[in-house]
Amino acid sequence: MARILPPTDASVHQAARFLVSGEVVALPTETVYGLAADATNPSAVAKIFAVKERPATNPLIVHVAAKDWVYDYAEPVDDNWERLADAFWPGPLTLILPRREKRVVDAVTAGRDTVGLRVPDVALTRSVIREAGLPLAAPSANPAGYVSPTSAQHVERSLGERIPLILDGGPCHHGIESTILDLSQGGHATLLRPGPLSLDSLESVLDVSIETLTLFSQAIEAQMAPGQFSAHYQPRAKVTLWEQIPPDNSCLEHPAVVFFQRNTRSFGGDCRYLSEGGDCAEAARNLYKVLRELDEAGFKHILVERAPDTALGQSINDRLQRASA
Ligand code: TXA
Ligand code: MG
Repeated sequence: MARILPPTDASVHQAARFLVSGEVVALPTETVYGLAADATNPSAVAKIFAVKERPATNPLIVHVAAKDWVYDYAEPVDDNWERLADAFWPGPLTLILPRREKRVVDAVTAGRDTVGLRVPDVALTRSVIREAGLPLAAPSANPAGYVSPTSAQHVERSLGERIPLILDGGPCHHGIESTILDLSQGGHATLLRPGPLSLDSLESVLDVSIETLTLFSQAIEAQMAPGQFSAHYQPRAKVTLWEQIPPDNSCLEHPAVVFFQRNTRSFGGDCRYLSEGGDCAEAARNLYKVLRELDEAGFKHILVERAPDTALGQSINDRLQRASA
């Protein structure tokens, strides 16, 4: 059973020791909790895939302590990566760059010639990376396909029996996974996964506009974004999205309704809300917690109101769409 460590220097040492010895450790980030291992150690990386039951075709993001680690693992083709790193790292942005030969093991990149890199915005976790002196491969710390964890308790409940250590950094600030931008082709920037950062804010420091993958480019999408499965982030309960009026749920077995904002209308039956006053940042922070709680309470159907069509609202809706696929 996993031990949950408090956020102390002693815990940082212990987590780093485990990672250096080839173990997996769950670490907090500002987006979701990650399941980390030494990205240069094949057997450590294999443990991540085994624990999560993750398909070998889905590459892992490599977490580094600072921007100056990037050239150890990647060979950027232009300087767009650096403008973004200066503006948004540490932070919820993953950059896909051409991979520097053989620095991280093949399984991390799923054999691709690109590597995903990011600097997480949790000082405790950067201390672990520095102390271990290793790039850490870390996917979200959940069984493949399930809802990502935004607290140490979430990790414990879904992976606690399979991993030795969880470093508790408290609840995650953003609550949804990092924005992923592919910069591996010079002169292009392609959004592979929407996340906490808006396209406008990213474009404000780039010299190119960001391309988005459309439904019409599914073949290309499968090639470029191997992990963006249409079904993902799924609780056991069946998720359905709605807008404006909650659907009639009288014929559903054990349904719960999730409102985007605290509901002032009267509504019979079990309901929850994602934000007090309609704030997308708060809703993103609560999204996975609410889905997990309803799942654990045994609801069979979760009817979730779509988020408004703002930048962050679209990222929330991306997750909800996949949860309901
Ligand atoms: O916020 C996050 O990004 C969290 C925290 C722990 O950092 N991590 C995360 O990892 O969400 P994961 O494995 O759940 O999602 C990583 C995504 C997958 O869709 C994967 O396919 C994609 O990143 N990815 C990683 N390396 C890639 C590469 N070289 N090319 C294309 N996509 C890549
Ligand atoms: Mg994940």
